[in-house]
Amino acid sequence: MRNNRGLLGRRSFLIGLGAGVTGLAVAVGAHQLQARQKKATSKPEPTDTPVQVRDNFQVTGDAPLKERAAAKGLFFGAASGFGQLSKDEAFATEFARESAVLVAESDMKWKNLRPDPETFNFKRLDWLYDFTQRQKMLFRGHPLIWHKSMPEWFEETVTEKNAEAVLTEHIQRVAGYYAGKVHSWDVVNEAIMPSQGRQDGLRKTPWLKFLGADYIDLAFRVAAETDPKALLVYNENRLDYDTPEMEQRRTGLLKLLERLKSKGTPVQVLGVQGHLFPGELPFKPEVLRKFLAEVAAMGLKIMITEMDATDRNLPGDVVQRDNMVATAYEDYLSAALDEPAVMGVMTWGLSDRYTWIAGFRPRDDGEPVRPLPLDKDLNRKRAWQAIARAFDSAPSRIPPS
Ligand code: XIL
Repeated sequence: MRNNRGLLGRRSFLIGLGAGVTGLAVAVGAHQLQARQKKATSKPEPTDTPVQVRDNFQVTGDAPLKERAAAKGLFFGAASGFGQLSKDEAFATEFARESAVLVAESDMKWKNLRPDPETFNFKRLDWLYDFTQRQKMLFRGHPLIWHKSMPEWFEETVTEKNAEAVLTEHIQRVAGYYAGKVHSWDVVNEAIMPSQGRQDGLRKTPWLKFLGADYIDLAFRVAAETDPKALLVYNENRLDYDTPEMEQRRTGLLKLLERLKSKGTPVQVLGVQGHLFPGELPFKPEVLRKFLAEVAAMGLKIMITEMDATDRNLPGDVVQRDNMVATAYEDYLSAALDEPAVMGVMTWGLSDRYTWIAGFRPRDDGEPVRPLPLDKDLNRKRAWQAIARAFDSAPSRIPPS
């Protein structure tokens, strides 16, 4: 795994690359965009191709996911938090064994970081950062600007008058505090929502209300000035399946990214969250491949940033369910990792012992959910094997020596 500097050095390379192809990309992009818009409104072909669920995910050896990823010039990591890693030693050991990157699941969110407008409480994040340094891991920042997990004082305090100062101060304080120490920042999270009807497809959030669409550009510019070494990521969800809703979201996101690139906004990476819905939504590899290729054609790199699998629609039988989740992971990553612009994969949690899905998308039968690579006893599941096998089969990003 290259050290932070190696990956951090990537940023200037990325900016050069991005600037070089922006003009061409915007022209090509506009053409593709018209084609997509036509498709997005036309009736989708019926997706009746049943998923061939596999039950064999044999992998060679027992090398951890971070090593299998690094062997191909990729990274593997996961989200976790102070409450998990500082208190559960067995979990922390497995986390460090499997992951080369840590992203704070919620400790960096405004409501956990800023108890009042004046206070930034970095204690928990400092513990997480120190954990990454002890374990020779990279640290991702998530999120700087989002509309969720906001503290109560935000609504009472922030107005059209002070919103720009509040946004700027937050990024300068947080990205400034960790400047030079972070692999990448999710600068803006989940800013599109085409179904709300805006022409630009943006989600109606307080940031948009107070600052207009340019709040996104502003956030990236402040982040670039504050932490010039880190990769700057725009992070988004619900982009992965062959449904009219997600096609509309992919089209809206491409429009946003083209607008940002044409303005010279310093965004280098698209974060595709990758929350999977096996047995619920139709996955078509060619749809994902096409979308990722269109993003790459803009000169952007790509990270899968929050991969997990909701199993609420799957059978109760654990073996069957684990096979279906593993099949979904392998099918998804086989498509995603074929795109050379994809740099790495983060799962949103590492073990079923700690998953937001338990509370957010529970099963009707009340059975514990099983979305992640390790089970609640920290044993590697078929999901782990599927991700391992996807890395083992992925094309290498390491140039031939
Ligand atoms: C989720 C956390 O996992 C939950 O524990 C919390 O209650 C809500 O936020 N997209 C994101 C993440 O970008 O920050 C969200 O994390 C999951 C969806």
